[in-house]
Amino acid sequence: MGKFVLIILATFVAILNASPLKHSQIRQEENLDWWQNAVVYQIYPRSFRDSNNDGVGDLRGIIEKIDHLIDLEVDAIWLSPIYKSPMIDNGYDISDYRTIDEVFGNMDDFMELLDKYHKAGIKVLLDFVPNHTSDQHEWFNKSVSKEPGYEDYYIWAAPKLNENGTRSPPNNWLSVFDNSAWTWNEQRQEYYFHQFYSAQPDLNFRNAKVQQELKDVMAYWLDMGVDGFRIDAVPHIYEDAELKDEPVNPDSGLNPTDYNYLNHIYTKDQNETFSLVYDWRAFMDNYTKANGGDTRIFMTECASDLDKILYYYGNGEKLGAHFSFNFNLLGLDVNSTSKDINDKIDPWFDRKFNNYTKNWLTGNHDNPRAASRMGPNHVDAYNMLITILGGVTVTYMGEEIGQENGELTPEEMTDARNLERTPFQWDTTVNAGFNDGATPWLPVSKKYLETNLADQKNKTISHYKNYKQLVQLKKDLVNYSSLGYGYDEIGNVFVVSRTNGRSQYYRYIFNIGREGYEIKLGSSSLFVQSVNVSYSPGDTLVLQPGDSIILKA
Ligand code: GLC
Repeated sequence: MGKFVLIILATFVAILNASPLKHSQIRQEENLDWWQNAVVYQIYPRSFRDSNNDGVGDLRGIIEKIDHLIDLEVDAIWLSPIYKSPMIDNGYDISDYRTIDEVFGNMDDFMELLDKYHKAGIKVLLDFVPNHTSDQHEWFNKSVSKEPGYEDYYIWAAPKLNENGTRSPPNNWLSVFDNSAWTWNEQRQEYYFHQFYSAQPDLNFRNAKVQQELKDVMAYWLDMGVDGFRIDAVPHIYEDAELKDEPVNPDSGLNPTDYNYLNHIYTKDQNETFSLVYDWRAFMDNYTKANGGDTRIFMTECASDLDKILYYYGNGEKLGAHFSFNFNLLGLDVNSTSKDINDKIDPWFDRKFNNYTKNWLTGNHDNPRAASRMGPNHVDAYNMLITILGGVTVTYMGEEIGQENGELTPEEMTDARNLERTPFQWDTTVNAGFNDGATPWLPVSKKYLETNLADQKNKTISHYKNYKQLVQLKKDLVNYSSLGYGYDEIGNVFVVSRTNGRSQYYRYIFNIGREGYEIKLGSSSLFVQSVNVSYSPGDTLVLQPGDSIILKA
């Protein structure tokens, strides 16, 4: 290893001397509003804690487990949908926006949850799904039967008639979940459009009444006391009014039924969608102004190109989302190098983002778990990374203990995303403490005996202990307003440095390579170290592959 370490060391010294660090002065983090340096913790209610032992997690489970969120010191929880739903898409198909689905509890449970979390100083954000409803929603039924006033609540179109007398969908648009985005409705004798499952018809936002209905829903929950929303599937809200065919994606090599076979110039990120988001921002700001209290916020789910994401934040004149999720780090996996990390975060340090609050996440309910995607020995490295980069940190439940994907049989894989939705691993009791023994809606991962919260609380060093330390770090980082980052030429080491005006610093070093990597501590000390780091007091520390640390000086 000798020669290798020397080469790296030379690079490392250069990195530490800061010149190759791509310097990016981040905004003075003074007078930040509550959300601008927040930890937002995503709860997937079905899988968090099942209090009534019926196999599905619920609101009382979230109330029971409040101590965990208090202990982690998160600023806000975001609940994936809890509204009445036939659960074709686990609640992202809403049949009544103002009612809690009975599988999760009732309104009394929700009000108690809100009250208890608020008393504990934790904000509560709800998932808001404006793009589509369930096909069981009364609006859809009324629209199907053309009840006056509801005819245009959804996107209906006449079929294309073929020469042989058969019909086909009005154009070539595809669903995000593949195949045609149009489904024939026998009763109305028209096709309706759905960006997702056919049980999720798209609302027609060109109808002013629809816009108002959705705003009323937001106001309803704000009046209940919620602190804001995560807004689902935003880029999909508007489509081209003339229903123009979309061009084929050159060289995609994909099957014509695959969503990415087409280039979505007419069904995604339309100008009207940006305007709508600015309108929502004005609505939310006015709500806060009129009602007092802390800022009500919303974050948008936009899996879009960065130039579009910027527009969801604002257009220079009008503000949009408080923040729009940054999904870049979801592109990292076990084979990633430090250059890959650099390339994922670099665009977010473009000047264009200077006036906006950045955000970082490594997982959610739609993507394989971070610990599985990037490797279980990289869990701490990524939790450290998304903390030291500043701004909002979003944690998908379980990431604080490095929970991995579950193991599912083909029958249990009713949705490819079930892997990351298996129950939270609380302890070593039956079903990992998710419930009292009823068969959970998805099986508990077999790994719960080695990865669970109770066990990590008892250990001196664990992912959980590190996570807590990182939440403390986050609070202090607001005093370290300068940020630099860089990687060595070989792609083995990634470094992020935060300094303050008095030359004090926190420095993150992640060995993502395949060789040991030696560090001289000098005047710095270890602030946090990933679980496998072995260090005996002295000036030298060797980071083994996968190890990461944050030094403080
Ligand atoms: C979002 C949600 C996802 C859901 C889809 C349709 O992408 O995160 O879970 O299936 O929207 O509502």
